[in-house]
Amino acid sequence: MTATLVDGKALAAKVRAQVAEDVAAFGEPVCLATVLVGDDPASHLYVGWKHKASAEAGIESRDHRLPEATPESEILDLVAELSADDGVDGILVQLPLPGHVDESLVTSSMDPAKDVDGLHPINAGRLFLGQPLHVPATPLGVMRMLEEYGVELKGSEAVVIGRSEIVGKPMAMLLLAEHATVTLCHSRTVDLAQHTRRADLVVAAVGRPGLVTRDMIKPGATVIDVGINRTESGIVGDVDRDVAEVAGLLTPVPGSVGPMTIAMLLSNTLQAARHRRLGLAVPGS
Ligand code: GUN
Repeated sequence: MTATLVDGKALAAKVRAQVAEDVAAFGEPVCLATVLVGDDPASHLYVGWKHKASAEAGIESRDHRLPEATPESEILDLVAELSADDGVDGILVQLPLPGHVDESLVTSSMDPAKDVDGLHPINAGRLFLGQPLHVPATPLGVMRMLEEYGVELKGSEAVVIGRSEIVGKPMAMLLLAEHATVTLCHSRTVDLAQHTRRADLVVAAVGRPGLVTRDMIKPGATVIDVGINRTESGIVGDVDRDVAEVAGLLTPVPGSVGPMTIAMLLSNTLQAARHRRLGLAVPGS
């Protein structure tokens, strides 16, 4: 079997075109503020892409870049300022933050109504309770891809590898909401292959090249590779390339999950603007 490759770029372009149309129809400015602390070249690249995509969708953006040594209190002050600023609809603090900064303190400090990353406890809790508002863009993009490619989730066996707040945990919640039987694997899982081999869907979100090999995949399964790893042979995911010989559907890296993440961020930003203008405040904010 040779897997069908998910064209995430094409789907992302479709989502972005829809967001652009909806932003124009909304008729009021929509604004995303990003905060990037430090010098990580990949983070600078990603944030640059987010601003370019925002502009193309008619979303204004504000770009706050702070030096690596910025004290935590200054970052908290900036987030408080953006939370209080009526001209800002969405706030994205690019992760990871430098080691001296408590990430969860920063994400918890923002107005949950503007938390387009879905990391504030209110948004994470709403997802947990089956009442989602802002959901992290990467797992949201994965769900959109699965829908587009007609992947049946109800009653399926789904294995998510990685338990991060931004991908693994929300991914598991979204799949559960669609009636998949979800197994959440992580670094302490004993015999990962035993779980993945019975899965109809595997989502790998760890950041380790070569984590998923072809012998770990059931023939015909859907394999979603969220990993982005810089290696000597270029950018690779968490899934070995020859998994394409057994999987039924596979996301190539780069160019599949990444573009969808940006598209869903724009969609979340428009959603935040709509909720704020319509006065649909997030309970607890
Ligand atoms: N770093 C890598 N991916 C993401 C993301 O989706 N959001 C944020 N805030 N930081 C990231």
